[in-house]
Formats: sequence, structure tokens, C-alpha cells
Amino acid sequence: MNKSLVPQPRVGEGREGTVTLTSPVRVHYDDQFANVVDVFEADLLASVGWEVLRVASHETCDIRLHYDATRPEEHYTLNVADQIDIAASSDAGFAYAFTTLRQLGPAQLWSAQRTTLGSWILDGVSIVDGPTFVWRGVHLDVSRHFFDVETVLRLIDLLAAHRLNRLQLHLNDDQGWRIEVPAWPRLTTVGAMRSGSPVGHELDDRRDEVPHGGFYSADDIAVIVEHARRRHIVVVPEIDLPGHAQAVLAGYPEFGNGHEHVDVWTHWGISEHILNVEPATLAFAEDVVRYVARLFPGSPVHIGGDECPTTEWEASPGACAVMAQYGFEHVSQLQGLYTQRLAAALVAEGHEVLAWDEVLDTDVAPGTTICAWRSEQKGVEAAERGLDVVMAPMQYLYLDWLSSDAPEEPVAVAPVPYVTTWEKVYGFEVIPDDLDPTLTHRIRGAQVQLWTEYIDSVARLDYMAFPRLSAFSEVVWGTAGDVEQFRPRLEQHLARLDAMDVSYRPLDPTK
Ligand code: ACM
Repeated sequence: MNKSLVPQPRVGEGREGTVTLTSPVRVHYDDQFANVVDVFEADLLASVGWEVLRVASHETCDIRLHYDATRPEEHYTLNVADQIDIAASSDAGFAYAFTTLRQLGPAQLWSAQRTTLGSWILDGVSIVDGPTFVWRGVHLDVSRHFFDVETVLRLIDLLAAHRLNRLQLHLNDDQGWRIEVPAWPRLTTVGAMRSGSPVGHELDDRRDEVPHGGFYSADDIAVIVEHARRRHIVVVPEIDLPGHAQAVLAGYPEFGNGHEHVDVWTHWGISEHILNVEPATLAFAEDVVRYVARLFPGSPVHIGGDECPTTEWEASPGACAVMAQYGFEHVSQLQGLYTQRLAAALVAEGHEVLAWDEVLDTDVAPGTTICAWRSEQKGVEAAERGLDVVMAPMQYLYLDWLSSDAPEEPVAVAPVPYVTTWEKVYGFEVIPDDLDPTLTHRIRGAQVQLWTEYIDSVARLDYMAFPRLSAFSEVVWGTAGDVEQFRPRLEQHLARLDAMDVSYRPLDPTK
């Protein structure tokens, strides 16, 4: 068996047989799985110019799809003998089988540019596969640096190549609002553009005067959501309030605590300017979140909730009056008003709700899934409180951290010793060691984070994401083992990343 599959399937063994494919590839399938075969054909066409021919069940074929209700969702079997047989119970299962099948072929099957390929010879193999975790996520911050639709679609393809299935888009922050909301036009006419950005590290305190901005229209979002849906990736929008709100306040100062004018922030860090807790402001937040959620039908929605400094609330007579009204003892409880209100609005429309782990500091609506980012312990705490968890601890899964301690690494959010090598990502255990075994069902999976203060181009995005994201895909698929056994597979996988034009960080840059 070809040993370079990433993520590694659960069970795979060589067997008798060889199949030689040429164009057109003859495939037998039921109508209900047409989407999967269409995507496979589009991928073949784009990479090697091959076509797919649909054949009837009695005709000779190269690939036969079998519906098998006994296979769990997202699982598949793939057998290569005298033909290729794939069995699954869902679109996703079939799609993952095709992804594995392409990995069994030459790297040029992944080529971003059209190449030519005469034939593709597959050795006999028998694979039984499926993921351990249902949430296999990647988060992308499009606020600190905006990435256009084309780049997001490319990232979706890269997720699909690794059998990852969630893309969280961080759509707003102090430095930019990135989604058009017709009822609140100043979010984008004002909030989507900043006048400059830090040069080098924020602590160097140097700024350029190059305007930076951009935002997605409803049509852009529809394109992203559909592209992802066809590849079995759910796009999760994140609207992060009541902190991280300076770009909102640039457009709507009346929602701030002092009502004074502020600009879209040109610093990295956490702005002190947050939303006030007046009824009109809560209603605004609810309206915006509800509108954004509707652009992502059926998707979970992330309501942020992290890093909300309370100095403005402490100094605000209005906020103090609200505290008295609710009998709050701690000013941080005011954040709970947002969390509960936004969660209720989303749940009423059938959305699942996620939030960063700071929301554990006050009351959390039951059913909220916690993204544990500050530590693994936060995931344990959430599970113990009866909440589901997506593990995202920064110490392992923040891909904006340095890839090594070498001085040649590009400037990153934090200095050495805040380093996350690909080996460290690969060693991450999704289920925390000290979690009570009766609570493991609370851990839905894990997610890597791509915060983009220091990621200002597609090339830098590639460098920070890969190959760490490839290592992560195997961790969250649930088949990661010994790192020395993974290394040669990862080395071979780089040929696929090359074919996809990914400017990844070399495994050993000194070579
Ligand atoms: C975060 O990194 N502030 C979730």
C-alpha cells in the first residue's frame, strides 16, 4: 500500500489486483451521489484534463459506488482489486473515499494547473476508514487581514484535501468589519477600511499609511457556502461581540460607552472600546447576528465573547445602572447579557451556538459549545459543566505562533518560547489527559486557528498553515501515531502541496 496517505486511514492493507485508469473514467453511481462524482470529475478535469463517464450497473466500469446503510456517517470502504469499489452511507463518506483514491495516485492529480497524464495504475488495496471526531476545523481571521473570495475557496479546497470539515470565518474585529449588513451600512462603508497597519511587530510601534480593507457581500457568502457545502465543509460565521468592537464603533459611535468618535483601529491587540449595554445596542447586536446567521443556513454560529475588557463598563453610569437592575455583583456579568441574548436569537432560528471559553466566566446558556483556546483545562472545565467542547488550545493549535525558534522565522504574534512546531501539533491529544472518561463524548473535535495580524498575504498564510495543518488533519481524523512514522509520509505529502501551489514551510529549512 502507498504509505503517503495524509490523514492516514484507520485500516489499510495491500491486496491482490491492479487497476489501470485512463480518461474517461467509467463510474457507476446512483443519482443521489451525483454531486460527489461531479466534484471528483471537476478535480480530475482541472488537474489532468480527464473526464468521467457515467455507466449503467451492468456495464464494465472502473469505479462502482455502493450505498451501504451500515457505514457510519462520513465513513467509507475503498477496495481496489480488478475494479474500484467504494461503499458509504453518505455523500461525505464517498467524497472522502475519492480524496483517498486521488492520494493513491500521482501528485499531479492535485495540480492547480492542468497537466497531462496518460494512465494511472493503482495497486490492490483494501481500506476501511472514518473519522474519530465530528468537528475537524480550521479558523481564519479575515478581519486583521482581509482575504478575498478566491483565497477562501482555495483554502476550502485545501481543507477538503485533508478531510477537514469546518471553516470558521472570524468576520469582525477592532481592525475591520468584513460582511455587508444592509440595515447597518456603516459597518462596511466605515468599518471595513482602516487607514494603516502596524509594520513589523506591534511592540515596535511603527505603522504604515496604507489603507487596508474589504468585505464580503451576501452573494460572496453564498458562493463560499456553496463551494464548501459541495466539499462537505460547513462554514461557521463568527461575529465577535461585545468586545473586539472598535470597527463597529467607528461606524456607530452611539453604541459605545462614551459615544466619542473612534477610527477603525490601526493597532494589533485588544481595544478598550467595547459595546455599551443599552437596550438599543443589544437589539443592534441581535439584529446583525441574526442577519449574518441567515446567510449561513443551518450552520453553527460563533458569537465570540473573548477578551472583553471591562474598564469602560466600570466607568459608565449606564452600565452600573444595568448592573444594579439585574443585581450583578461583577461587571463581567454584563457580558452574559450579550451571550444569552445572542444565543437565544440564534437557537430560535435553529442554529447551534459556539463561543470562546471566556463565556465560562459567567452564566452560559445550556447547549452552547465552548471553543477552549486559553488552555486544555478550559475544555475540561466546560465538559464538567455539561457543555460540548471544540478543543483549540493556543499552545498547540494556534498557527499564528512561530513554527520554530529559528531567528529566520517571520515575525509572529509572540516571541520564543511561544513556538508550535509541526511535531508539536502532531503530538496534540484531542481528549485531554485529565478529563473524566465519562465526559469524553463532550469533546466534539478540535480546530486550528489562523489569526492574521502577522499574516498579510496568501504566501504567508500558506507558510503558517502548512505543513502544520496537514499534521493536524491526522490528529483530528484520529489516526495520529508515532511522529517518526509520520515524517516520511508527510515528506511525500509535500509533493501534493507543491502540486497545489502551496508555499508551505519546509520541514527542515536548513536543508
Ligand atoms: C482568542 O484567541 N482571542 C480567541
